[in-house]
Amino acid sequence: MALLLLSTAERGEVWPRVFAEAGEPIVVGETSVMDPAAIDHIACWVPPHDLSAYTGLRTVISVGAGVDHLPPLPADVALSRTIAPGIEAMVRDWVVMATLMAHRDMPTYLAQAREHLWKAGRVMDARARTVGILGMGRIGRLAAASLGNLGFRVRGWSLSGRPVDGIDVFSAAELDAFLGGVDILVCLLPLTKATHGILGKAVFAKLPRGARLVHAGRGAHLDMAALLNALDAGWLASAILDVTDPEPLPKGHPLWNDPRVIVTPHVAAQTDAREGALHALAVIRAVREGLPIPGLVARERGY
Ligand code: GLV
Repeated sequence: MALLLLSTAERGEVWPRVFAEAGEPIVVGETSVMDPAAIDHIACWVPPHDLSAYTGLRTVISVGAGVDHLPPLPADVALSRTIAPGIEAMVRDWVVMATLMAHRDMPTYLAQAREHLWKAGRVMDARARTVGILGMGRIGRLAAASLGNLGFRVRGWSLSGRPVDGIDVFSAAELDAFLGGVDILVCLLPLTKATHGILGKAVFAKLPRGARLVHAGRGAHLDMAALLNALDAGWLASAILDVTDPEPLPKGHPLWNDPRVIVTPHVAAQTDAREGALHALAVIRAVREGLPIPGLVARERGY
C-alpha cells in the first residue's frame, strides 16, 4: 500500500525524499499509479474526480490547513487537514502584521503616500484597542498570545466558548456581546455552513463605529458588498484582506483602488513541503496503529 501525492512540482520532489528516509512508499501523480487498489492515502489539494477505483483508500489528506474546497468524500474515508508549525506561525505573523497595520492606520498612510500627502492622524496605544478574534483554534490561540504580548486587549469567539489562558472567549450565542467591544475584528474561522457569509451587514453593524477588519479566513466568509457599504458609511474604517470572494480579486474590482483596503493574494501561509510530508507520515502511522489521526476533520462540523 502507498500514499498518492497530487500536488505541486516542489512537493513532488521533496515528499519522495522524506518518505524514503521514513521507509514509506509514495506514488507521485495519478499517471504513475499502477494499481489504484494499492493506494491507501491520497494527499492533495483537490482529490481525483472519481475515487471508485481506489478501493483501499483510508484517508484523504488536505495539503493545506483548510478542507472547505474538497468535494464530499465516501463516509469510510477519513479526512485530515495538514497540521504544521510553519502554517500556524505564518498565519500568526500575517495576522499580527495586519492587525498592527490596521491599528496604526497604514491603509490611510499608504494611500496618502501615493498622493505625496503628509498628514498625521491621532496615534493610539495598543493598550487602548481591543482585538476580537473569530475562531479560537490553534492559529487563533497563537495569534491571541502574540497580540496580547504587544499590549492589545484580546478577546476570542468560538462555537464552544471554551476558555483559553488569560483570554475571554465568547460562545456562539454571545456573538453580539463579543462584537460590541471590538475595535479590530480578526477572522480566522474555518469555512462551514454556519460561518458562510458571517462577515456581513449584521456583524458589521454590531461593531463600534470606526472598527477595522482583518481577514485571513476564507473569501466566502465575507459579503463583499456589505463590506463596501460599511466602509462607505464610515462604519468600518479599514479592511486588510488575505482572502476575497472571488479569488483572485477581479481586475477593476473597486477594492483594488480603495484607500481604506489592503489586499494580499491569499499568502498568509503556504505549507512547507517537508512539514506537509511529515504530517502525512504521522497520519499514515496513526492509521496503521489505530491511534487518533492528526488533523482529523469532524465531517458533521466541517473542520
Ligand atoms: C490555505 O488557505 C490553506 O488552507 O492552507
